[in-house]
Amino acid sequence: MLTKETIIIRQETQNDYKFVFEVNNLAFKQTNEAKLVEALRTNTNVFVPQLSIVATSNNNIVGHILFTKIKIKTHENFEHESLALAPMAVLPKHQGIGIGSKLVMYGLHEAKNVGFKSVIVLGHSNYYSKFGFKPASLWNIKAPFEVPDSAFMAIELQNNSLKNCSGKVVYPNEFNEV
Ligand SMILES: CC(C)(COP(=O)(O)OP(=O)(O)OC[C@H]1O[C@@H](n2cnc3c(N)ncnc32)[C@H](O)[C@@H]1OP(=O)(O)O)[C@@H](O)C(=O)NCCC(=O)NCCS
Repeated sequence: MLTKETIIIRQETQNDYKFVFEVNNLAFKQTNEAKLVEALRTNTNVFVPQLSIVATSNNNIVGHILFTKIKIKTHENFEHESLALAPMAVLPKHQGIGIGSKLVMYGLHEAKNVGFKSVIVLGHSNYYSKFGFKPASLWNIKAPFEVPDSAFMAIELQNNSLKNCSGKVVYPNEFNEV
């Protein structure tokens, strides 16, 4: 039986691409997010290979998470680099046993190791608050679109790294095409 203890989390390789496409396709029941992952991989300005991460079981891909570079643009037009957590997908038959949580925790740890200072996510506050995400409005960071306050969240990977980062998030253009 598949349990979270038998799951291995690692960086994605080129051989994984087609399986990652399928995991996103099955989890979201559409290909938009799978195509978004493909598009983001080709944008070398925002793609960080260490932060495209898969969950495997018996060498099969059962989950995927991606963090890509974004900017937080201040009112003075200064740009702070951050990361967007998106998308994240786990095969429907393996959801709810902690694979998604493992991907988030591994990803945040790796993002910190690579030197990133913060991560932004749009999602369910109950889910992401477990990992330390808080409403981005606490730092006066806004989404570039209308979104409920509690769903637009951020986490600092270094102490006070979002202090003085108030502004609007700028996503890579690939996100507009989803
Ligand atoms: C969101 C998702 C990646 C979570 O993966 P997972 O392996 O099921 O996650 P875990 O087992 O670690 O955690 C399960 C928790 O996620 C919650 N959950 C289930 N579907 C969810 C969803 N679409 N969004 C947010 N949380 C969800 C469950 O209620 C459960 O909460 P609990 O821990 O308080 O009981 C997975 O459900 C999925 O692929 N969903 C479809 C794609 C999606 O919506 N992705 C997120 C937006 S990018």
